[in-house]
Amino acid sequence: MTSLPATAVRASAVEERVQELLARISLDQKIGQMTQPERLHVSPAEVKRFHIGSVLSGGGSCPGDNRPADWVAMNDAYWTASMEEDADHLAIPLLYGVDAIHGNANVLGATIFPHNIGLGAAGDPGLIERIGRVTAREVCAAGVDWTFAPTLAVARNPCWGRTYESYSEDPTLVARYAGRIVRGLQEAGVVACAKHWVGDGGTVGGVDQGDTVMGEEELRRMHIAPYVPALEAGVLTVMVSLSSWNGEKCHAHRYLIQDVLKGEMGFGGFVVSDWDGIDPVADDYGDAAAMAVNAGIDMFMVPETWRAFIAGLKEQVERGVVPVGRIDDAVARILQVKFASGLFDRPRPWARRGSNGSAFGSGEHRAVAREAVRKSLVLLKNEGGVLPLDKGARILVTGPAAHDRGRQCGGFTVEWQGVTGNAAIDGGTSIWEGIRAVAPGAVLRGGGDGATPAGDVPDARDFDAAVVVVGERPYAEGLGDIREPSPVRAGTNHLPGGPGVLQPYGNTLKLAALHPEALRTIRGLTAQGVPVVTVLVSGRPLVVNEELAASAGFVAAWLPGSEGAGVADVLFGDYDFVGRLPMSWPGKMPEGPGRGGRSGRGTALFPHGYGLRLL
Ligand code: BGC
Repeated sequence: MTSLPATAVRASAVEERVQELLARISLDQKIGQMTQPERLHVSPAEVKRFHIGSVLSGGGSCPGDNRPADWVAMNDAYWTASMEEDADHLAIPLLYGVDAIHGNANVLGATIFPHNIGLGAAGDPGLIERIGRVTAREVCAAGVDWTFAPTLAVARNPCWGRTYESYSEDPTLVARYAGRIVRGLQEAGVVACAKHWVGDGGTVGGVDQGDTVMGEEELRRMHIAPYVPALEAGVLTVMVSLSSWNGEKCHAHRYLIQDVLKGEMGFGGFVVSDWDGIDPVADDYGDAAAMAVNAGIDMFMVPETWRAFIAGLKEQVERGVVPVGRIDDAVARILQVKFASGLFDRPRPWARRGSNGSAFGSGEHRAVAREAVRKSLVLLKNEGGVLPLDKGARILVTGPAAHDRGRQCGGFTVEWQGVTGNAAIDGGTSIWEGIRAVAPGAVLRGGGDGATPAGDVPDARDFDAAVVVVGERPYAEGLGDIREPSPVRAGTNHLPGGPGVLQPYGNTLKLAALHPEALRTIRGLTAQGVPVVTVLVSGRPLVVNEELAASAGFVAAWLPGSEGAGVADVLFGDYDFVGRLPMSWPGKMPEGPGRGGRSGRGTALFPHGYGLRLL
């Protein structure tokens, strides 16, 4: 696949093939092309029967034993069904989509990169493009064509549960990365998806799927700006946000989708809805579908309700509520992406180069992830030069995230909400495993995998220094929100049990309240006279004043992913710290009704861009 400028997506050769195909397909097949069920709810036979254009995997929805070969087999079956031609069905290859948002992290054995917030700290656009290429190769190894990435959210409030999906609170930094990640992914053969259009990171109080209340000038400067370089780099798809702008749902926002994105900005690819994103748009499902199609959405992520969507949309077209011209435009855009990405020219998934290939989870790929970990670490305190640590020293390593690869990967890893423990992450190194490899005198006490209770204070008398690895448990989306403990509102829920059962992560950003065991361990060790280096594993800046005060050294490690060894690379001075805060670091909980539209701006303990060096 070559990277195409947005306008070139509609280049004449492609356009001709699209028009030729469009002239031959039925309304049923057109609507089918616009429909994206979830794999658990649609069979290959149904893909053909209903002419389905795309299938997705929700977070944690994995075939067979969740190895690349299982994914290729699944995609091969869907693709083959989509390509069986008969009187009723024209062969159009199916586009399969996944959330490869920090590597192809749903699949066992994948290389898992730091979540975006850590990559923002690295401040290295070239690295971002290489990560895009590696991720794309691991997506292709699974026979998959499309990733719902990059997230171009500009997270303005760390209370937001998706803060870690955002590179930065600064739209300039997000914009510097946007084109590079799109190029990296698409030039290596995977369709990218800029999301979530638009304003997802600016909701009042940082509430997931909430309301972004601001004037148009600010929306453009803050949240639309990063899409400009993504479109220039030829991003082929854009996903709509589950949030609202000034009270109006983005999924029904004709002005934002049709007028601004497609009209003014000239986006030539297709727009996909988010998971059940049309549900809240209207009480009647058919009305909701019509409003969303008329607002400019081209493909619909309707995981379970795809049959109702197809029936509802067909009725609306027959009643004239949705013009056939709009359907044709949507399908033309989908076909254009399928042509422009080379999907029509590819053989079946099993026969593709790189399918189930040895590059997946390879040492070469993991080296890129380890480099990203090194560059993402931000040094916030280094009293008395406690860092770098001496490789020959007797070092006590402890804390619940010290030896827990699941925890260091965070959400959207194997499961939607992520996993804890080492067993579920195949390959890579925990932070402890990285330390052990370079410091023979290091000892692990407790520290993950449930070995000893969190908050334990080991006897430190025989040690020269302690490394305490603490932080958040994995979470994703609204379950990571910090707000009053009300259930997450109806909307996206990849878990069985339905909405209404989902609680936020907590109601404060204060680590000492969320996880008091961390402070207990840090203080307990400090009291024994041993200098403590605290490593914080978290998806966002937290209020850590007390932990900072009790530690000699303090490192923000974000969610480093599978290659924990990158932490030891820097702790022991083989590399210097180069990371800078991609968000200002709050000294207290944001206040007021919106809890500070800005991440505690005014109360920042460390400003955006802060980060110490060793040398
Ligand atoms: C998220 C999207 C994601 C989609 C598919 C939704 O819940 O908001 O970011 O791409 O699920 O898994």
